[in-house]
Amino acid sequence: MVHNDRYREGAFAPVKDEVTAYDLPVTGRLPTDLDGRYLRVGPNPLGIEVPDTHFWAFGAGMVHGVRIRGGRAEWYRNRWVRSAEVSGALDRMRRGLEPPAFLPPSPNIHVLRHAGRTVALTEAGGLPHELGHELDTLGEFPLAATPEGSSANAHSKVDPRTGDLHSVAYVLGRPFAQYVVTDSAGAITRTADIALPGALPFLHDFALSENFVVVFDIPLIFDMDAMRFRWDATHQAQVGVLPRAGGPVRWFPVESYYLSHVLNAYDDGSTITVDLIAAEGPVDVADPGAIEPRLDRWTIDLRTGRLDQQCTDDRAQDFPRVNDAYASRPYRYGYSAVSPVYGLRAGSDGPRSGKAPINVLIKHDLLRGTAEEHRFGNDAAVGEAAFAADPGGNRNEDAGYLMAYVADPDRGASDLVILSAQDFAGPPVARIHLPVRVPLGFHGNWIPETTAT
Ligand SMILES: [Fe+2]
Repeated sequence: MVHNDRYREGAFAPVKDEVTAYDLPVTGRLPTDLDGRYLRVGPNPLGIEVPDTHFWAFGAGMVHGVRIRGGRAEWYRNRWVRSAEVSGALDRMRRGLEPPAFLPPSPNIHVLRHAGRTVALTEAGGLPHELGHELDTLGEFPLAATPEGSSANAHSKVDPRTGDLHSVAYVLGRPFAQYVVTDSAGAITRTADIALPGALPFLHDFALSENFVVVFDIPLIFDMDAMRFRWDATHQAQVGVLPRAGGPVRWFPVESYYLSHVLNAYDDGSTITVDLIAAEGPVDVADPGAIEPRLDRWTIDLRTGRLDQQCTDDRAQDFPRVNDAYASRPYRYGYSAVSPVYGLRAGSDGPRSGKAPINVLIKHDLLRGTAEEHRFGNDAAVGEAAFAADPGGNRNEDAGYLMAYVADPDRGASDLVILSAQDFAGPPVARIHLPVRVPLGFHGNWIPETTAT
């Protein structure tokens, strides 16, 4: 457990102000047909959340957005995700009053659009909050909410063929998860309970293929007495396969491991291929810089009952993304980040080897088994890059852009960097210069203005 402020300093340091800026300067050339918003959320602690045991995922959510249209960067905005508690605390602080002794985080993990709503997401039972076009919080929005308290959670996924949103939701202290399918109009069309006896697990992410849902029951459990996650070495790690069409969960015991995120998954009806960011246990999620997970490919053969685990790329990396039009289907390209979070490991000059560079985005060609890098300076700070499909209608898998906030140490502020996915190692297509720094955060999306659902 990390009892310090490493995740509130440097590239992680929260910003104090909500800022609005118009007509942002651009280096390079913004594609004129990009029309939408790039939104990304992360923790931005007010300084009152957890006095002694802060870790990265604590802290009120703050969403950072850039509106792009007609070859111009029309605006940048950052706004706290104002849950009732966060809104109340901000109001008290503004008036010079004593803040509350405990402030539950507002959604700070992901932001996506579904059923005509833009929502910031959290997990473990916290409700999504809806955001307006200019990032103001409209209130709690019960997307995929069930009577049992589940709802859309941090890594809910849209199946691009059906438009349905799939969630594997869990509530702290409850020994089962709930699979929830929400159609493109927001109506729940299916739920299934997934029993997790003897565990109160951390189910941050899951895998979705054309016919199956894959869940990861890892030995990281929530200790309700200590109010923190801890590694339970006695817990048998396992992978569960739930048919999307219905049926029992089939469990595959595996060696102790930690799942950070899923890149993508697909199946041919009897074999499921899952690409995922994982690490060997034990880990301490309070100190993600010490975990250094790698990209693996796990293959589950439902006929033989065999689960095969292969390492694809052993560099410490995370924040995997794909062209979402290829989500849950066979695909070729994945993108990930070597983030400064790995520079935090005590005594380390970089991930794993101690010498590898940080601030790198990676494009994986999983068909050829190769990877390209886009490197930023070691003083920069890059996190997740979201894929924006080519707005001109080119449906090739890597036709489009990667978008990520990158801190520019020379300016003391951040840029929204836009890379061409097909010229990944080349110079950025455009750098949009923001007036302020964007702290390292978690996840987000490019949301085209024409998105109806
Ligand atoms: Fe995540």
